[in-house]
Amino acid sequence: MRAPTQAQLVSMLRGHGYHFRTFNFSVEDPCRAEDVDWNYKDIVHPHFVHPHMRRCYAFADADGYSCIDIQRPFGFQVAQSVSTWVSGPNRLTTMTVSFFLIIIIEVVFEPIAELRSRTTTTYQIGSTWRLLLAAAVPVLQWALRRNWDEFWRDDHRMRVRRGELRQQGFDFAKPPRIHGIASTLKISDNNVVPPAVPCTHPVTRIDLAPRDGRVVYVGTSDHFGLQVALHPDRLEIYPRLCPHEGACLDTPRAPAQGMVRCPWHGRSFPPVATLSYAEAPTTVVGPLHRFVLTESELRIEPLGETSAAGVPDWTGSRAPMAAT
Ligand code: FES
Ligand SMILES: [Fe+2]
Repeated sequence: MRAPTQAQLVSMLRGHGYHFRTFNFSVEDPCRAEDVDWNYKDIVHPHFVHPHMRRCYAFADADGYSCIDIQRPFGFQVAQSVSTWVSGPNRLTTMTVSFFLIIIIEVVFEPIAELRSRTTTTYQIGSTWRLLLAAAVPVLQWALRRNWDEFWRDDHRMRVRRGELRQQGFDFAKPPRIHGIASTLKISDNNVVPPAVPCTHPVTRIDLAPRDGRVVYVGTSDHFGLQVALHPDRLEIYPRLCPHEGACLDTPRAPAQGMVRCPWHGRSFPPVATLSYAEAPTTVVGPLHRFVLTESELRIEPLGETSAAGVPDWTGSRAPMAAT
């Protein structure tokens, strides 16, 4: 049998003398079920988004992966071998074995409104010893709930962000362009599809007097949004939206290495433009804005409407074009 569901696995193991106890947790997120599906299949984000665990992948293809999860519950490092596979539409099944216990987990995502989805995680704990099962399940249920809450807190932020972007008209690449679990390894792909709308923020003027590394935010954290880092000798202009899967790139302080790093998958972006105050006056044309540097201010002028065919890569860096 290939890619069995939880129920099929449990039934198979009952035939080998195993008894099972079950419980489940359910949660709702303000995004589409496909966003939750993507979140579960995305095998790169755990390293960046779930700092309480480390995951070493052994294998991944379109429909499954196996790995060793390393966590430190109660201060002790514990390694766990985990296999996960797609067992149906909007359904993933995971199994792990720990001494005398078998743990089979199934996650199901379902849409309950346009931008609302429900995720139900069902645990089946199996053992050949009924007494062990009766003693272990209450403790396991408590520990697994604690662990699950921690994962969900981190993932929920990603799902909220996806829902917010969808509310603004954004979409994300779909199959066949994106297919399956292993394709999430390609973090250099730009999977965000922005809406064909005009830029909503007006011409912005930034005073160049404070050159203490502060960051000035322009617009919102969409493809038109910018963050301007005012260094003592130069200013750097960075994007605010990651084109890979839509993370917000805002950073509280000016990036020290001349890069912003995406918090979801670690992709780094150089500035869209770097301007030396000494070069003023200068004009640089970026993907979606014109930057006009004078001795006292930086003027940011949106270039206009984005076409229905999409926008150029709004994260591409540009060199100064002409002095004004
Ligand atoms: S969302 Fe994946 S690298 Fe930014
Ligand atoms: Fe996650």
